[in-house]
Amino acid sequence: MEHILNIRNVSKIYENAGHKLTVLDQINFSIQTGTTVAITGPSGSGKTTLLGLCAGLDRSSSGTVSLNGIDLDHLTEDERAAVRNRYVGFIFQNFQLLPTLTALENVMVPLELRGERNIKKHALDLLDKVGLADRSGHYPVQLSGGEQQRVSLARAFSNQPAILFADEPTGNLDAETSDKVIKLLFDLNKEAGTTLVIVTHDLDLAAKTNRMIKLKGGVVVADLELNHA
Ligand SMILES: Nc1ncnc2c1ncn2[C@@H]1O[C@H](COP(=O)(O)OP(=O)(O)OP(=O)(O)O)[C@@H](O)[C@H]1O
Ligand SMILES: [Mg+2]
Repeated sequence: MEHILNIRNVSKIYENAGHKLTVLDQINFSIQTGTTVAITGPSGSGKTTLLGLCAGLDRSSSGTVSLNGIDLDHLTEDERAAVRNRYVGFIFQNFQLLPTLTALENVMVPLELRGERNIKKHALDLLDKVGLADRSGHYPVQLSGGEQQRVSLARAFSNQPAILFADEPTGNLDAETSDKVIKLLFDLNKEAGTTLVIVTHDLDLAAKTNRMIKLKGGVVVADLELNHA
């Protein structure tokens, strides 16, 4: 089995005013290509930090992160950005849409970075998929939290990532919209073989994945294969 992600002895330590804070302590796991994984754990346990390291958004203090066979630890900022654009989709817990761009333009950014053609049509199709075709001209401040989350989802899908990281993708959604978003994610896994790594507090969502990794205090306290009848 091929592994799209290999995490070896990864730690993250923040230093604040001479104080050392170990947020992730010697984390180890590998994720098989094409599978779905839930990362769970209490608030402050290091989930978002871990996701950022796995996606090459941030650098570990020690250990190695290897994505699609590429060792991220020794790459420059620009090199990591290139790897992200090529392989990674990311749905942020706080959306991180660009405030000066419309919904449509936000979705177009990764496509532009890749130099694709027919960018506008592609981006509109993606917005339509998340039920926001009629909000394409809205700026982020003119969108509700759940709508911003869905724009963020459309943007993450746009470069057809090999691996998609989603940080509480249903955290701000009502039950019906949440079901739709979950379906979109799992369809992407089924149809495009996209590996999904989802941080969630929603145990129903976690139960739909192939595997659950539980963090507590910056260490992995459980790593369970989930069997689906
Ligand atoms: N830049 C930083 N400097 C110092 N400490 C940080 C920094 N970023 C995060 N932390 C600390 O790291 C710990 C883990 O944060 P993280 O955001 O990864 O938690 P989380 O598991 O995603 O929590 P939540 O469920 O609330 O989103 C927290 O205690 C946080 O205060
Ligand atoms: Mg978090």
